[in-house]
This record gives sequence, structure tokens and C-alpha cells, in this order.
Amino acid sequence: MLRPCVVLFFWTLLWTLGWTSGVTVEITSQSAFGSNTDRSFHGVLSGVSDATQYTVISAIQGGNWWGPKTYVVPKSDGTFVGSVGSATNDKYGVRIALWVFANTDVPAYGDISILNEPVVTASTITGDNSTVQYFKIVDRFVQYVRGGYGFGLKTYDSRVGPGDNYFGYNSDLTYHNDSDDSLHLYIYLNETSGQYYCTEYYGLEPLGYGSYIFSTKSRVDLLADQGRWSVLGMFTYDETASETAYNEVDFEVSKWGYSADPTNAQFVIQPYGEDGHLKRFTIPHSNSSGSLYDELTLIDEYNFTDSAQVPPPGNTTVHINLWTANHTQQDVQQTAVISGFWHFDTPFYQLQYIPTSTVQPASPASSHFTSFALCCVPLLTLLTLCYIF
Ligand SMILES: *[C@@H]1O[C@H](CO)[C@@H](O)[C@H](O)[C@H]1NC(C)=O
Ligand SMILES: *[C@@H]1O[C@H](CO)[C@@H](O)[C@H](O)[C@H]1NC(C)=O
Ligand SMILES: *[C@@H]1O[C@H](CO)[C@@H](O)[C@H](O)[C@H]1NC(C)=O
Ligand SMILES: *[C@@H]1O[C@H](CO)[C@@H](O)[C@H](O)[C@H]1NC(C)=O
Ligand SMILES: *[C@@H]1O[C@H](CO)[C@@H](O)[C@H](O)[C@H]1NC(C)=O
Ligand SMILES: *[C@@H]1O[C@H](CO)[C@@H](O)[C@H](O)[C@H]1NC(C)=O
Ligand SMILES: *[C@@H]1O[C@H](CO)[C@@H](O)[C@H](O)[C@H]1NC(C)=O
Repeated sequence: MLRPCVVLFFWTLLWTLGWTSGVTVEITSQSAFGSNTDRSFHGVLSGVSDATQYTVISAIQGGNWWGPKTYVVPKSDGTFVGSVGSATNDKYGVRIALWVFANTDVPAYGDISILNEPVVTASTITGDNSTVQYFKIVDRFVQYVRGGYGFGLKTYDSRVGPGDNYFGYNSDLTYHNDSDDSLHLYIYLNETSGQYYCTEYYGLEPLGYGSYIFSTKSRVDLLADQGRWSVLGMFTYDETASETAYNEVDFEVSKWGYSADPTNAQFVIQPYGEDGHLKRFTIPHSNSSGSLYDELTLIDEYNFTDSAQVPPPGNTTVHINLWTANHTQQDVQQTAVISGFWHFDTPFYQLQYIPTSTVQPASPASSHFTSFALCCVPLLTLLTLCYIF
């Protein structure tokens, strides 16, 4: 007699192999990230008896999901050609989402309600061909940082916030695929335009409350010296939440141009102008050798206890940027290196310990290492800064 668990096992196996649905949609080739002249991608729908009975819809991920960009019926062999879109900044989409609908059940052109699907569903096969047949996300230009989390690169051809800056993509500066999975952030001079360009990475999925841990392995204490307006930001942001100050909670390393300021960093719960929403502190320069990674030392912390003002989780994602708060004053190229990012559901103060393997830089060559932890829970926001020396 076949026991139920055995049946379940085989069913699960078949389902895992995709035999139940069998539908797949793949992208077989893509134009280069940022290419203005070729914005196409080529794909194939398979596992259906007649591909011409289906429609493939695509959207791209900028900060949010943008689209729909493509509505295309595959040829009888399943192949199709899509586009990342024709709007100015569409060429900088970092991921492509694909949906497959039966032609009899395609949403009206321009119905953007399906764009919420990527956020909630990730990659699934529904098996229900009366609505969404199949859904999939394909990376186009995603930087996976140590800790395993994927970031998109904010890229614009015009000045945008923060700081009314250009945010650029410069392949020479190895934004992508660094050998130790670090994120490299730059304020760099574009020789062609004579303008400084800044860097911002955005997290691809909302992570909700919990602990956000960033580690750096460059001299962040030096960034804002000599009257510079540069800012290294590690923060949460929800561009759909203007009514709650974009759910923004920040670590910001900056003197905002005031070279005499003895502090060089701040904790902020936006809006920063309200009482108790901002605390300045100082990241020291530590230069020891020997017991380099033995100790995690608390530099400063800030507990924000105004429960009514703690941001809701919303669609908040994590962001990391290096920008200048006054581009007319920027006179030097600058770099910051983020050696890892981790998110834990557990509040920071409940973590039993921060595993040193988690926070140590991948490459021990650097003697400068700072770890920032940010933690949001419904009734308490706790911000902690640790420093290893
Ligand atoms: C929808 O699914 C049913 C049951 O799996 C199947 O019989 C039918 O052929 C499918 N329709 C299309 C258009 O694929
Ligand atoms: C990333 O870098 C490694 C080693 O430098 C290389 O082998 C690999 O092909 C690169 N991957 C991508 C996606 O460029
Ligand atoms: C430099 O600026 C020009 C516009 O003047 C722009 O087309 C180009 O993409 C920029 N290059 C980089 C690497 O940022
Ligand atoms: C830090 O280390 C560098 C390089 O080893 C050395 O030149 C510098 O003097 C040190 N600074 C301090 C404050 O110890
Ligand atoms: C912040 O809250 C944590 C957890 O309750 C506590 O251990 C810590 O002492 C508090 N720190 C300050 C500065 O109030
Ligand atoms: C997330 O963003 C979508 C699209 O703007 C919006 O419809 C939805 O209400 C947001 N969800 C939350 C929890 O804020
Ligand atoms: C930038 O610096 C210039 C010169 O000091 C000043 O006039 C201007 O107000 C500053 N801009 C901002 C946004 O602070």
C-alpha cells in the first residue's frame, strides 16, 4: 500500500521539478544596462501547447516598479522580443519582471495593479491559468553585497535629490561584481561634463522591522573633513510614504560643510527638525593593529521612544549613498566602501551576539572598520553604532 507521505513526497518532487505546471519563461539575451540605442531583451515561453495563446507583460525595477513596458504575444516557437521601455531613465532598470497571461485574460493595457505582484509574490508558478499563469523576476544589473542581499544602482541623466545631484553609472569604477562583494560608492568627476556624480544603491525588497547592520571598511571619519559637504548615508526609505516622511531612519556621516564641528555623524528619525529626532555623534579614527577584530565597542546609541513617530514598515527598503549636499563646493573625488549588509528580524538589543564572522570585513587588509546597526520595532527605534578596533 502506498502510504500518504510517500504520495506527498512524489507529488512534491514533481511539483518542484515543475511538472505540474511545466510553464517557464526565460530571458535568453538582454541589451546592456544603460544602453540608449538598444533597449531590447529576447525571451522564450515554453511548456504551453500553443505559445500564441498567451501574452507576456514586463515591468522594470527602478526605485519602484515601473511599467508595464511590454505586451507581446510570442511566436509559435515561444520566442518573443520585449523592451525595458522608451522613457529616458528606463534603460537603468535593474530587474525585469515578467508575467504570462492567457490571451483571454490579459489585464487592460496600462493597468498597473499587477506591479504590486513582484513585491508580494517573488517567483511563483500559480498553476491557475484563469489569472496570472506565470511570474518571474530576472536580474539586469544587481549588485549582491556580502551578506547576500541584492541592491540596484540609482542612475539618472538629470539632477535629482538628495542634493540636486547627478547619480551615475561608471563601469570603470567597478560598481559591479567587486571581488570581495563590497559595494564601492563614489563621488566622481565626469571629465566629459565637468560635473561630479554621486552613488546610491537601493535595496530590492522591503525588509520590514528588525536590525539593519552595515559594515564599512574605509575611513568614513575622513569623508567630511576640510569643510566638505559629502554625506555617507545608510538609511531606510519608502518613496510611496510621503505622509510619514518616507519612513526614513538614517545614519549619516557628514559635517555638512562645517569643518569646525567636533562631531561627524548623526542618527535621524525623519523629519529631522522635530524635537528629539536628531542626535549628533563622533566616529573616531582608530588605527590599532594586533587585536584588530577582537572587540566590538559601542561608540554611541540612541533610543527613540516616541511610539507615535516611529515609521511604519510600509514598502520601506534599505538605501546606501555617498552624495554631496552642496555640489557647487565639491572639489575632490571621494570613495566609501561598504563591506557588508545584513538584516535580522530580531531587534538589535535582542540579538544574543553579533557573530564576528558577520561583521568582520571580508578582507582583513583594512584596519578601518565600522559597523552600524539600526533597529526598528513598533514601539521603539534603537540605533546603535559599533566600532571594531
Ligand atoms: C488551463 O488549465 C487547465 C487545467 O490545468 C487545462 O485543462 C487548460 O487547457 C488550461 N488552459 C490553457 C489555455 O492553457
Ligand atoms: C565577477 O568577477 C569574477 C572574478 O573577477 C568573474 O569570474 C565573473 O565572471 C564576474 N561575474 C560577472 C557577472 O561579471
Ligand atoms: C558623463 O556625462 C555625460 C553627459 O555629459 C554622460 O553622457 C555620461 O554618461 C557621463 N559618464 C559617466 C561615466 O558618468
Ligand atoms: C595610522 O596608521 C598609518 C599607517 O600605518 C600611520 O601612517 C598613521 O600615523 C597612523 N595614525 C595614527 C593616529 O596612529
Ligand atoms: C536603549 O535601549 C536598550 C534596550 O532596552 C538598553 O539596553 C540601553 O541601555 C538603552 N540605551 C540608552 C542610551 O537609553
Ligand atoms: C506599497 O506600495 C504600493 C504601490 O505604490 C501601494 O499600493 C501599497 O499600498 C504600499 N503598501 C504599503 C504597506 O504601504
Ligand atoms: C553651497 O555653497 C554656496 C557657497 O558657499 C552657498 O552660497 C550655497 O547657499 C550653498 N548651497 C547649499 C544648498 O547649501
